[in-house]
Amino acid sequence: MRILIIGFGTVGRALATLLEESRAQLRAQHGLDPTIVGVVDSRGGVVSGNELAASELLVAKKSARGLAGMPGGIAGPLDAVRLIRESVADCVVQVVPSELSAPGAAIDQLKAAFTSRKHAVTATKAPLGVAMSELLGVAARSGVQLRYSATVGAGTPFLDLAASVSRSDRIERVEAILNGTTNFILSSMDEGRSYSEALAEATHLGYAETDPSNDVDGVDTAVKLVILANHAMRARKTFADARVQGIRGVTADQVTAAKGAGKVIRLIGRIDDAGLRVGPEEVEKGGVLDLPGATNAAVFTTATCGTVTLRGSGAGGANTASAIVRDLVEIWRTK
Ligand code: HSE
Repeated sequence: MRILIIGFGTVGRALATLLEESRAQLRAQHGLDPTIVGVVDSRGGVVSGNELAASELLVAKKSARGLAGMPGGIAGPLDAVRLIRESVADCVVQVVPSELSAPGAAIDQLKAAFTSRKHAVTATKAPLGVAMSELLGVAARSGVQLRYSATVGAGTPFLDLAASVSRSDRIERVEAILNGTTNFILSSMDEGRSYSEALAEATHLGYAETDPSNDVDGVDTAVKLVILANHAMRARKTFADARVQGIRGVTADQVTAAKGAGKVIRLIGRIDDAGLRVGPEEVEKGGVLDLPGATNAAVFTTATCGTVTLRGSGAGGANTASAIVRDLVEIWRTK
C-alpha cells in the first residue's frame, strides 16, 4: 500500500517511525507492506514513485532546507490538493493541524483523495467537525474509505468500542474526558502546579494542538463528541450543535475548594438527550473520571448492556500514529 503523508509534525514523524518499526509485523500478520511515496509539510515536500525511507525523511525534516532538501524535494508552500490528485499513492494520510475556524484546506485535501480514488486516513479533526457526513458520502460514492480512529482518544479505540456496542445495542448517554491536554493541566493543578506551567509541559510532551486554545477552550473535546455521536449514535451533528466551555476560568482556589469537598475538577464532555455539551465539572475524587495526566475515558450508558467504560492514553505522537496504522490495516483488510 503506497502512502502519501500530508503534514509532518509530531504525529507524521511518529507515523514514519512506527511504519518502519512495525514493518515485519504488518507483513507477517496482515500481508500489508505500507510504503511512503510522498510527504508534504508546510515548508515543502518530497514526492516519489518509489519508497522513501523513514530514516531519511526524519533527518531531512530536521535539516535547514527540510524535506525540500531531499533528492526530488520541492520547496513550498505546495499545492497539497494537486499533489494528492497526481500522486501514485493508494492512501492519503492527513496529519495537518486541526483548524476549526478554517477547515476548508483540510476538507479539500480529503475530497481530492476520494475523487482521485484514494483512501484516506485522517487524524485531523476539523474536517469531521464541520463536514463529516458530506465527506463520508463523497468517499462512499467514490468507492474508497475514510477512516479516522486517531481523531478520538488517539490510540485508545473509543470509536471502535462505541461502534461495536452500537451494533446490537443503543448508546443512550456518554460522559467522557476526551482531551489529554486539559486533563494533564487540571490534574497537575491538583498537585499545586500552575496552569501555564502545566500547559507548557503538555505542549512539550506533544499532547497539545498546534494552537492549544483548541484544547483549553473545549473545542477539541466538542469536535470529538461530534465524531463519536456521528460514528456510533446515528447522529448527524457538527461543531455548531455543541455547547462549549473551556478551562481558562478554572482557578487554583476552585481546585483547592473542590479538593476539600472530596472532588476534582475535570473537563467533561456529555452526549445525552440535552445534546452535546463540554465544560469543567467537579467529579468524585478517586471516581472513574478522576484520571491522571493525558488519560481519556468514556462511560457509555447503553439501553441493554448497562454501563461500558473505556480508558486509556488519549494523546501523543506514537499513540496517535498507532491508531493511524490500525486504520491502514483495516483499509487493507476490507478494501
Ligand atoms: N490535543 C489533543 C489532546 C490531542 O490533548 O487530547 C489528541 O487528540
